[in-house]
Amino acid sequence: MGRPEVRVFPNLEDLSQQAASRFEELANRRITEGHIFAAALSGGSTPRQLYQLLASPPFSDRIPWRSVHLFQVDERCVAPDHPDSNYRMVHEALLSKGLVPALNFHRIAAELPDRDAAARQYAEELARILKPHASGWPRLDLVFLGMGPDGHTASLFPGSAALNERSRWVVPNYVDQLKAWRLTLTFPVLNAAAEVIFLVAGADKAETLRRVLDASSEADQFPAQRIRPVEGQVSWYVEQATRLL
Ligand code: 6PG
Repeated sequence: MGRPEVRVFPNLEDLSQQAASRFEELANRRITEGHIFAAALSGGSTPRQLYQLLASPPFSDRIPWRSVHLFQVDERCVAPDHPDSNYRMVHEALLSKGLVPALNFHRIAAELPDRDAAARQYAEELARILKPHASGWPRLDLVFLGMGPDGHTASLFPGSAALNERSRWVVPNYVDQLKAWRLTLTFPVLNAAAEVIFLVAGADKAETLRRVLDASSEADQFPAQRIRPVEGQVSWYVEQATRLL
């Protein structure tokens, strides 16, 4: 893998427009070739505008939604209507607009009391929809990730157990910093994707971003540095306020 591409945008709106264009381009390419298009969506606040754009013209009209399958990168262990739920955010921004067929959105049931069962169930769902890849890992066409000021990505937080997962596709992960459980896709799944795009906004992430992108910095200090698609590419879409400081 070469150096990641870094694209800097003056504001979140431009960043979100370009991310939506890339989604549209990749979806149309895959679907024209006769495949489904499978993308995984992060939660948090940064991608909300992107999801709203995908649900609005012109993007909504140009995306062949019937062949698009959407997965979650991670989920907080709360009910789907809880204010912290990533599903709730994606639902409000995108799913509620009625474009994505219900069967094409694959929700992590992180509210289940048996978190291991919920993780297994989600891995089975990935396996059901995505064709087996030679590597043995599911191959998502596109993954949108975020990054926290501590360098976490997905729900892979510094020091947490899930960082060491080598075999499972989806795991429950206790996040000591938040005193809360999450369910998350694991590094091997994220690194099996064809394309990963980080969406990063906010001046509070500037120093971490600088260190994450600094090739000479201590390798793998931050979880976000461990996103290196094996047969794919990674790009960083960064708001200028994050990049400049
Ligand atoms: C979540 C995420 C997480 C997120 C980062 C950045 O559930 O919170 O999927 O990894 O992408 O924390 O979040 P913001 O976009 O809110 O800064």
